[in-house]
Amino acid sequence: AGLLGRARDLAGVRVVVTAGGTREPIDPVRYIGNRSSGRQGAAVALAAADRGATVTLIAAHVETDAVLPASAHPGIDVVRAETAEQLAKAVAAHAVEADVVVMAAAVADYRVAEASDRKLTKEETGGQLTLSLVATTDILAGLVAARPDGQTIVGFAAETETDAAKLRERARRKRRRKGVDLLAVNEVGWEKGFESADNELMFLGSADEVIGSASGTKREVADALWDAVRSIRLP
Ligand code: CTP
Ligand code: CA
Repeated sequence: AGLLGRARDLAGVRVVVTAGGTREPIDPVRYIGNRSSGRQGAAVALAAADRGATVTLIAAHVETDAVLPASAHPGIDVVRAETAEQLAKAVAAHAVEADVVVMAAAVADYRVAEASDRKLTKEETGGQLTLSLVATTDILAGLVAARPDGQTIVGFAAETETDAAKLRERARRKRRRKGVDLLAVNEVGWEKGFESADNELMFLGSADEVIGSASGTKREVADALWDAVRSIRLP
């Protein structure tokens, strides 16, 4: 179906989408980050808003041009969050009211146990530095545990597995471990997924079945994600 065919099929649906990569401070000038651009998450937010949903986009670090169209959209409210902890708080504040939550953000799995208040210097570290890392909270796990009745929760999984069968098995294990209604899986690599305009996703449902797949622009893939969400949510 073209854009007109599915026009406003998400009217009245309240959506929370997270996007981009968190940044975990080492000291006031440095952080541990990742290569997420926020483009796929922003496209998911835009597609939902264009189809009539009311959207809160919780943006960690995103490329500015990726999030500008979302900021300008009357149906989208953009909230910023820098670290995994801030993202967790923002999600906790907004998700209770949502019909659908899409966790497209690349959340750091670890943060520096104690970030320094002052810039670390070579004079002090003597040319060698060991950082102690602790696990961040799993936001998605918290969402699933506290899910209100009728809420649909969508997770993302970026995997470097190149063997299709192994990728699917790994994704199924992750889907089960996370307990999400839908897992959007994409293969990433040094040259794949992050800076590119296009993407390829496979959607796993709650019985581990493949609900669909899509490849194309991040917007086309985002529309396919909403088609998959609509197919598992009762009308
Ligand atoms: N996620 C989250 N909170 C975290 C880490 C991940 O909410 N602290 C979410 C991501 O936004 C994504 C999903 O969990 O929707 C899967 O993330 P992924 O990194 O693939 O899974 P992990 O459980 O972190 O496993 P690993 O990185 O070891 O593959
Ligand atoms: Ca992870």
